[in-house]
Amino acid sequence: MYRTIEWLDEKNQVRLVDQTKLPLTKAFIVTGSHERIAESIKVMEIRGAPAIGAAAAMGMALAALESNAETKKQLISDLEAAAETLNTRPTAVNLTWATNRILQVANATEGDVESIIDRLIEEAKEVAEEDVRMCRAIGENALPFIESGATIQTICNAGSLATVHLGTVGAVVRVAHEEHAGNISVFAAETRPRQQGARLTVYEFMEDDIDTTLITDGMIGTVFKQGMVDCCVVGSDRVLGTGHVTNKIGTYTMAITAKHHDIPFYVVAPTSTVDIDNGPESVEIEERDPDEIRIINGEYVTRPDAKVYNPAFDITPPELITAIITEKGVVENPTRAKMREMYEK
Ligand code: MRU
Repeated sequence: MYRTIEWLDEKNQVRLVDQTKLPLTKAFIVTGSHERIAESIKVMEIRGAPAIGAAAAMGMALAALESNAETKKQLISDLEAAAETLNTRPTAVNLTWATNRILQVANATEGDVESIIDRLIEEAKEVAEEDVRMCRAIGENALPFIESGATIQTICNAGSLATVHLGTVGAVVRVAHEEHAGNISVFAAETRPRQQGARLTVYEFMEDDIDTTLITDGMIGTVFKQGMVDCCVVGSDRVLGTGHVTNKIGTYTMAITAKHHDIPFYVVAPTSTVDIDNGPESVEIEERDPDEIRIINGEYVTRPDAKVYNPAFDITPPELITAIITEKGVVENPTRAKMREMYEK
């Protein structure tokens, strides 16, 4: 797979693949505007927690380049405004993690405005590079749990497209695929209403010749009961310090169903997705446009005035989770103390 998002050095611009057009069209957005990046995050041209974190970091670097500031103080004030503009989705912690990181570097860097901007560009690029390294480490840390011949159930897209490269679930599948000579299969839940499973996960695993079967979300119980799946591996938008996991709507239902069928349930995420000081009560679950549910392919599939509830994410409690796997290690049967120990490594 290609990189989801990249900094173009020669132009000081950002290039990202437009995920709303996949899988039928591979189109790229190239921009030098942080407001355009904010819009891309909002309308989900780029989505997935680590990918929007990288986009936000690069958006901050673009905002620095766009600024007319003559002093460090003015630059910081422009960056604070840009951080607000870029924080367009509330649930994934990677967004604020990335904008705070760039702000901290701006505050800590001495020198003239130009040298601070250069430093911020380097930091934004490092956020992206770090993401690639963390994904690979996650894949390696998960390997002992994925046997040759395993079929892995996932939901949404936590693949390459949801990160800078490789993915979190994507890395688990790809590293196991390499290690077990291609003897790994995936079941992808379509993921209503935005179809990230059908549009993105199936697309990118098929690009890499990984055996992938698409099912609707409602089929999960049936495939578990029929013994078609060996384990579940899902990503996260915010792993709480309590071991609760926020992820795409449907994850909680999958975890309950996995418990009932004695199927291990693994969560994989980089520590940029870990909100170590907080618990589930602090999470704002994004509610999206009701028309995402009322309309399919431009046509109403229900009454246009149908009452709709459309939360984009849910929260799975630690007692349903076999292990949380990050680049720093594995937390089996997660508790607050074990999460902190892993995080502080
Ligand atoms: O609404 P989305 O498509 O941004 O939701 C993405 C997910 O829920 C992913 O599972 C999560 O961000 C982890 S991506 C490595």
